[in-house]
Amino acid sequence: MNARPPEVTAQTLVEHLDALAAHSAPGAGVTRLVYDDAWCRAHQWLAERARALGLAATVDAAGNLLFHDPALEPGDPRPALFVGSHLDSVVNGGRYDGAYGTVAGLLLAAAPRAPADLPVVGFATCEEEESRFHGSFIGARTLLGDARGEELDQVADAGGVTWRAALEAARARGRAAPLVEGERPFRPLFRPAMMLELHIEQGPVLEAEGLAIGLVERIAGYRRLGLTLTGEARHSGTTPMALRRDALAAAAEMILAAEAGARAAGEPAVATAGFVRAIPGLANVVPGGCELWLETRDLDPERLDALDRGLRERCREIAARRRVGLEIEERSRMEPTALSWTLAGVAEQLARERGIPYRRMGSGAAHDAMVFARAGIPATMVFVPSRRGVSHSPEEFTAPDSLAAGYRFAAELIARLVREGGAILAGEAARP
Ligand code: GLV
Ligand code: MN
Ligand code: MN
Repeated sequence: MNARPPEVTAQTLVEHLDALAAHSAPGAGVTRLVYDDAWCRAHQWLAERARALGLAATVDAAGNLLFHDPALEPGDPRPALFVGSHLDSVVNGGRYDGAYGTVAGLLLAAAPRAPADLPVVGFATCEEEESRFHGSFIGARTLLGDARGEELDQVADAGGVTWRAALEAARARGRAAPLVEGERPFRPLFRPAMMLELHIEQGPVLEAEGLAIGLVERIAGYRRLGLTLTGEARHSGTTPMALRRDALAAAAEMILAAEAGARAAGEPAVATAGFVRAIPGLANVVPGGCELWLETRDLDPERLDALDRGLRERCREIAARRRVGLEIEERSRMEPTALSWTLAGVAEQLARERGIPYRRMGSGAAHDAMVFARAGIPATMVFVPSRRGVSHSPEEFTAPDSLAAGYRFAAELIARLVREGGAILAGEAARP
């Protein structure tokens, strides 16, 4: 590597996050949906920044971006430590979710290392949020080569643009490499042996407990349902209440049933109705149709199944009583996922040695680390506090000193992991 990377301070991190946040669609907060104009500009900015730091910036066929020592060429079979997060955001999201781990991955990949160390590859996955495509972690899955060719045509955004077409447009802007012909169009460029994702907590625990670091043990899974309700559209002024088959009113009951189901199940169960659309959506027509999305999450697989099953039953009862047709489609799902116990142990040991106030914890938010862990790659996450626990909002904020503390911790953790990688992986393999 030819350029000596700068010392990373709180200011370095804030400047990088500010620069990335400038690449957003108009509106409050950050809106950067996979392959859109803001995403392409952010992607290009990251690649240029990586080169300025003396790194190679390599794109794969899905538009995942990898930052690495130019001596490590794509296809190199040596195991590497992956560190990063996602580049996309929700609509009107914050400037830290995904971006913090991506910026950290870039800067950590640029840190000087001994030749005997495990190589470090920084990454920005193209997509994690499902804000544009309901393809379930298309970024992390393609990064690991785990996506099928037919998904490119099956997965489409709300405007009907397929994943293939959107990717083609990003490729034309130099933001993705050509697809590989055949059933498996995505090939991993490097071999991840371990994975670290640095992220804001997005919940209130660390701030409330006055802690600097959270070490994630387990991540909640989810079920995302798309419900199509069919009632009868009629004149709102002339249709007596007893004669109505109001699809939106039925959806309203289902939304409350979702809320009641999660409350009855108790923490950490949650349920959310994130989208509802009445058809035709006019003041003077009883809604004849309605589209509704319901999501449930829990850290425990059996509890999640029970929550999802209970909600589907309640929705069917409500639809039957109201004489409304109901179709339920599972739009996407992820199972609750345990992260590496061994890597969390190494991180815990480090926190103890440094006297850093920390705790082990679960995550209610989903993360790319789940995909790595489910592929059998030891994965770990380090959280830093979020102000008032707010995230997926323009109000998202983490204090610069907290960002820097998380970065320093991750840097030390990586130094330990790349030095002792072989022994750590042997420990992981020996776990029952
Ligand atoms: C991603 O942020 C998710 O938890 O949905
Ligand atoms: Mn998010
Ligand atoms: Mn995230």
